Amino acid sequence: MRAPVYLDNHATTRVDPRVVDAMVPCFVDLFGNPGSTSHRFGHAAKRAVDESRARIAAVIGASDREIVFTSGATESNNLAIRGVAERSRAADRHLISIATEHKSVLDPLRRLARKGCSITILPVARGDDRTGRIEPERIAESIGNETRLVSVMLANNEIGTIQPIREIGRICRERGVLLHCDATQAVGKLAVRVDELDVDLMSFTAHKIYGPKGVGALYVRRAEGRVRLEPQIDGGGQEGGLRSGTLNVPGIVGFAKAIDLCEEERAHEAPRLAALRDTLYDRLVREIPGVSLNGPPLDQADRRLAGNLSCSFAGVDGEALMIAMGDLAVSSGSACTSANPEPSHVLRALGLDDDLVRASLRFGIGRFNTLEEIDFAARTIRDAVIRLRGLRDSS
Ligand SMILES: Cc1ncc(COP(=O)(O)O)c(C=O)c1O
Repeated sequence: MRAPVYLDNHATTRVDPRVVDAMVPCFVDLFGNPGSTSHRFGHAAKRAVDESRARIAAVIGASDREIVFTSGATESNNLAIRGVAERSRAADRHLISIATEHKSVLDPLRRLARKGCSITILPVARGDDRTGRIEPERIAESIGNETRLVSVMLANNEIGTIQPIREIGRICRERGVLLHCDATQAVGKLAVRVDELDVDLMSFTAHKIYGPKGVGALYVRRAEGRVRLEPQIDGGGQEGGLRSGTLNVPGIVGFAKAIDLCEEERAHEAPRLAALRDTLYDRLVREIPGVSLNGPPLDQADRRLAGNLSCSFAGVDGEALMIAMGDLAVSSGSACTSANPEPSHVLRALGLDDDLVRASLRFGIGRFNTLEEIDFAARTIRDAVIRLRGLRDSS
């Protein structure tokens, strides 16, 4: 085993060498602009994009024309939310979401609120339920005549909660409201098929699934009535006018290879990740006093992502813990997922107080992690927690 050990696979993943191999020809041979329709360099690049689009669409149960390539899930979320709001009549500008969404959903909603839209952000904590799951009935109760869009993520990036999207989709469809789903942490890890979910818009990205950074997609439903969006980037009219800009051909080819590999390997990879995750958790609770689990129980495979673990270590500062762990890469409860490291809004939304939020770590176990690395992680965390608690008690 080689240190440092990477257990931060929700933040990003190492690009799979098979994905790199698929991308390399796009830099040297297929370098044409897919928008150049007048020569064979452009045609070859367009063919590569078309094939990749078809693969990605097939994996999520969409048609080719329903995939819009973007620079990543942040852009996809912005396009979906702002795109719908800006296309709605002023009287129909009520949007609903939940407190544990990614900032790239919550911040566009906040901006829309400042511009006069009516926004409802639903809490997820109920009593001592700290799973982070939203009850579909809460969504149903919040929908009014003026509601245009509901945005609920499929799987949470901090606590792994899988939301009841099927039920939420059914409610939205019945009430004539659009549903956007941020499936960034779910695509490639769970069976996600838009033809089986009543989802109208869905965001996902390549770099969470062993593909390259800087490329993502928004699924925009066309079947049974096309969803209309206001473009957020204007220019050459690429992607049906919804997202102008020269397509990232190597990124798109890598994205398709990455999603294909996840799909092929998912059946045996998910239980392998869950077993590694359970081993880590068992070691932590057995060897360290005062460890608590955040998010859904680990034995509920349909409610929690296989590779996700979030724990609080009472009385320890997560940042100090991360520094003390040196060769182990994880995220803390005041994670710098954005430019400003502040206590995680997700853990706060579960009802954790700020001390416990700061005493939390998120582990993201992925394709390249081994049992030996999990053993290293358990020992490193135990030694660091004991050392920090010793320092605190002696001060
Ligand atoms: C749930 C979720 N949504 C959106 C994003 C943003 O994705 P990207 O980095 O592709 O913009 C992330 C990544 O951190 C995420 O975990």
